[in-house]
Order: sequence, then structure tokens, then C-alpha cells
Amino acid sequence: MQQLAIFASGGGSNARKIMEYFNDNPDVRVALVISNKKTAPVLEIAGSHGIPTLVIDRAMFYETEELLGILTQHRIDFIALAGFLWLIPPYLVGAYKGRMVNIHPALLPKYGGKGMYGHHVHEAVKAAGETETGLTIHFVNAEYDEGAIVFQARCPVDPADTPEIIAAKVLALEHRHYPEVLAGLLAGSR
Ligand code: GRF
Repeated sequence: MQQLAIFASGGGSNARKIMEYFNDNPDVRVALVISNKKTAPVLEIAGSHGIPTLVIDRAMFYETEELLGILTQHRIDFIALAGFLWLIPPYLVGAYKGRMVNIHPALLPKYGGKGMYGHHVHEAVKAAGETETGLTIHFVNAEYDEGAIVFQARCPVDPADTPEIIAAKVLALEHRHYPEVLAGLLAGSR
């Protein structure tokens, strides 16, 4: 049994898909959900699946390595970031090297880096007149959106698409692919 932790700051729709996908899976269990916001909807979603949750604050995350002990206690093998907005500190990048991925709502290396999240990404894609966009799943290193790319999927951008429409297309693509890509990575790391 492989134990997966999800880190999420926001709505948690990807986290929900991942929890649903691995529900009753004999090989993978979502064993912990971590958020930096105590009001994040993802915490309730985790609760409804009976998954333990943890809310972290900046001081604990950046000034201590307490989280490593907690991840070890929960026997976490792999971490999926799903809309987690804080930069991952070096101690955590080091401990989970090759065992932590992020999903980004664009075709990296374009439209990534600090400040490129949520609607900012889709507005930039629209402003640049791109004819396609998509998602990127990549390993996490100490820089925003720069780790090795594991998987990308594309979708067309029509000239009439607003940033909101682009966002909806990309999110649907994320929901379709993220759980399956995680399943493949976890199977490969067994
Ligand atoms: C997704 O678009 C993901 O690519 C990005 O943040 C968004 C999270 O959405 N990193 P949700 O919280 O999973 O609904």
C-alpha cells in the first residue's frame, strides 16, 4: 500500500477527483490532506472521505522541519500538490525528491513562475493570442514551476474564448488526467 498526501490551498476540485479515484484502491491510499488555509473547502472534502487533515502556518512550514515528522508518522510515500500556492522549502524538496509533483494549468515552461497562478495564467494565455493551452504535471524542485515535466495534455483555445472559458477547459482536462498520472507514478515507484 502506497500512502499519498495532497497539499491544497483552495477549492480542491483536483484533490476531490484524486480522493474519489483512489477510494477503495488496494494499492494507494490518500492518507493526509494538508492546507495552509483553515477555511479551504478541501478540508471538508477530505473529512467526508474520512481522510485526516492538517492546517499549517508559515512559521511551521518555513522555520521548522516539523512537517517532515508528521509526514513520516503518516507514512507518506508521495506528495501531490493540487492548487497549493506556497513555494516548497528545500528540506521538503530534498526529502521527497522524485516523490512530489505539482499540476500547473498551462503548458510549461510558458506561463509559469511566481505570480502565475489561477486566472493570471489564463489571462496571459488569452492576451498572447495562443491557439492552444493545457496542463503540466511536473516534479517539484525549489523554484516555482521548474521541475522536470512528467506529463502534458493540450486543448485548443478558440479566438472567442474568454479567460474563464479557457480556465474551465483546462480544469476539466486536469480532472481527467491528474489521478491517472499519479496512479502511474505511484505504480512506477513501488
Ligand atoms: C488548478 O488549476 C491547478 O492547476 C492549479 O490550481 C488549480 C487548483 O484548482 N495549480 P482546484 O483547487 O483543484 O479546484
